[in-house]
Amino acid sequence: MIDYSRFISHVAKSIKASEIRELLALIRGRKDIISFAGGIPDPVLFPRKELAKIAGVVIEKYGDNALQYSETKGIIEVRETLSDFLARKREIHVDAEDIIVTSGSQSGLDIVSRTLIDPGDIVVTESPSYLAALGAFKMNGARLIGVKVDEHGMRTDLLEDRLKQLGDDVRRVKFIYVIPVGQNPAGTTMDKDRKKHLLEIASRYDLLVVEDDPYSYIIYEEGAEVASLKSMDKEGRVIYMSTVSKILAPGLRIGWIAAEKELIRRFEIVKQYVDLHSPTLNQFIVAEAIKTGVIDDVVSRAVPYYKAKRDTMLKAIQENFPEYVWYTKPIGGLFVFAYVHKPGFDAGALLEKAVKQYKVAYVPGGSFHPEGDGVNSMRINFSYPSHEQIREGIARLGRMIREA
Ligand SMILES: Cc1ncc(COP(=O)(O)O)c(C=O)c1O
Repeated sequence: MIDYSRFISHVAKSIKASEIRELLALIRGRKDIISFAGGIPDPVLFPRKELAKIAGVVIEKYGDNALQYSETKGIIEVRETLSDFLARKREIHVDAEDIIVTSGSQSGLDIVSRTLIDPGDIVVTESPSYLAALGAFKMNGARLIGVKVDEHGMRTDLLEDRLKQLGDDVRRVKFIYVIPVGQNPAGTTMDKDRKKHLLEIASRYDLLVVEDDPYSYIIYEEGAEVASLKSMDKEGRVIYMSTVSKILAPGLRIGWIAAEKELIRRFEIVKQYVDLHSPTLNQFIVAEAIKTGVIDDVVSRAVPYYKAKRDTMLKAIQENFPEYVWYTKPIGGLFVFAYVHKPGFDAGALLEKAVKQYKVAYVPGGSFHPEGDGVNSMRINFSYPSHEQIREGIARLGRMIREA
């Protein structure tokens, strides 16, 4: 028998399997369990017919190019379309040369990390923050500092304190990573003052900001403050990234980064060795889906559809959770996050019981907290379960919390 562990790198040994993926694998296909653990779109929103038609046309008409290797940065058709899309949707004014197409935002996070982080460098994130981003930063050797969020997003007053406390080590901070709108996992949205303050701090300490923005296209409250940091950035400090995963289909694995040319060039060189380029065919499909209004159509169906589910969830929580649970009321995105303020409550330790006895699943919040706190928290997704499942599942979860 070969002892494979000798061959495994320190990095690979140091990372843990994602709790979410392990858990989802365990309960997949179990109809008796109501799962709030995923973070995936409801497939009823996938524009099957439109995508089938686009894919057919693209392959038949443009097959020579669409089925071929392509530019690392992304095909020009999609970058030009994205430049227009970002201006229209997010008031981000960048030309096609300031955009690089990635294989989903996850790959964007990896490329940004590889390009910016040296082992021992510091990345500041929200606490809680997106698990797979924390993983990408750590895999590249980053030390993480977590700054608490409240209902207005990252507490930038605490951010400033933490940076001050670092002393000379502040030079090791490379960037501040934020998900300003409909945050995953917290469901919070940053207000304008916080955004301004964040940019001021980044400027004062000479730091970059990575803005991860998959959710701002799906907003439930009219007039909500969702301006992107990138649209407010006068100094070229913000590296903006987004994806079609929540507004078209995650299986296409197409995302993008918009940033200053000099940074984009660096990302491009790194990407050459990561995956040569993102799938050409899918880039053609995405360009067509934007141009022909398919994405606009998905978004216009997704907003009321998810809003209704969010409302069902918030109502069910209000009716079923005890008063010592604090939870977010998201104006966008796919998640509610809850802290159970009951001594000794450990959402991770209770998960097995939740699944086996109460037949309900969630993601324990601890691993979203970069500095190890938050064991009393959980992420609850409302995009995938049906209204009936939301009502019944939240009642089960409420019972579990009371009886814990
Ligand atoms: C905040 C955040 N960033 C990045 C991603 C990854 O997106 P993609 O499917 O484009 O890789 C997700 C997916 O859920 C996310 O929530």
